[in-house]
Amino acid sequence: MQFAAILAGGSGVRMGNPDKPKQFFFLGDKPILVHTLEKFCAAGCFDKVLVLTPATWVKQTRDIVAKHCPQYVDQVEVIAGGAERNDTIMNAIAHFEKECGADESSIIVTHDAVRPFVSLRIIEENVAAAREHGACDTVIPATDTIVESLDGTTISAIPNRSALYQGQTPQSFNMAELKRTLESLTEEERAILTDACKAFVLRGKPVALVRGDVENMKITYPQDLRIAEALLGAERC
Ligand code: CTP
Repeated sequence: MQFAAILAGGSGVRMGNPDKPKQFFFLGDKPILVHTLEKFCAAGCFDKVLVLTPATWVKQTRDIVAKHCPQYVDQVEVIAGGAERNDTIMNAIAHFEKECGADESSIIVTHDAVRPFVSLRIIEENVAAAREHGACDTVIPATDTIVESLDGTTISAIPNRSALYQGQTPQSFNMAELKRTLESLTEEERAILTDACKAFVLRGKPVALVRGDVENMKITYPQDLRIAEALLGAERC
């Protein structure tokens, strides 16, 4: 089976509106989350598309799905995410196991709700790479020189740019292996984890690369929303 988990459980602190997480901000004529959800539903390759939001937003999100994508309501479910991003992923895994008949060979594609420009190619290549390799990350080559500073005042290293990539999402996995890997983490490892692929890397498990896209940007700050509006306008021309 193949499952998609749209990670919308964050509170968007860097976006600066404490009352409304950024995934619910409008981009064009609908919430950012809806743009993202439509891409996964339209892909047509998932047994279930699960949206995970803050607990207080679950009901409102169900209403948003019913209003903006009535054609997909049978395919979509909305549940509460967790305190950290990886907790949200664990909630998704628990749901797919309990409610959707997931088995050892099931694939999970996890995607940030706030990356609304993900393409069908990226989604399909994620599914294929997760099947073939057990885990994959979506990346683009680093364009800026990356400077490392361990103390925040002087440079400790300037790694070779040709070997550096910027991580995007989706990140996709054999779901049973992802669960085992996340459950194997110690408290300390959990604290330094910024994403699920890092857990695989920490355990020495291979993670394949899928070619991302500059347009598959993450909306983090208010200025990103302005860029996203411009991209949407360009898409519609
Ligand atoms: N996310 C999630 N569950 C969490 C935290 C984050 O599902 N407990 C999701 C966010 O909703 C977002 C994605 O992970 O779609 C990427 O995270 P980020 O951009 O850091 O979102 P926030 O945590 O909401 O942002 P901030 O760090 O500014 O608060």
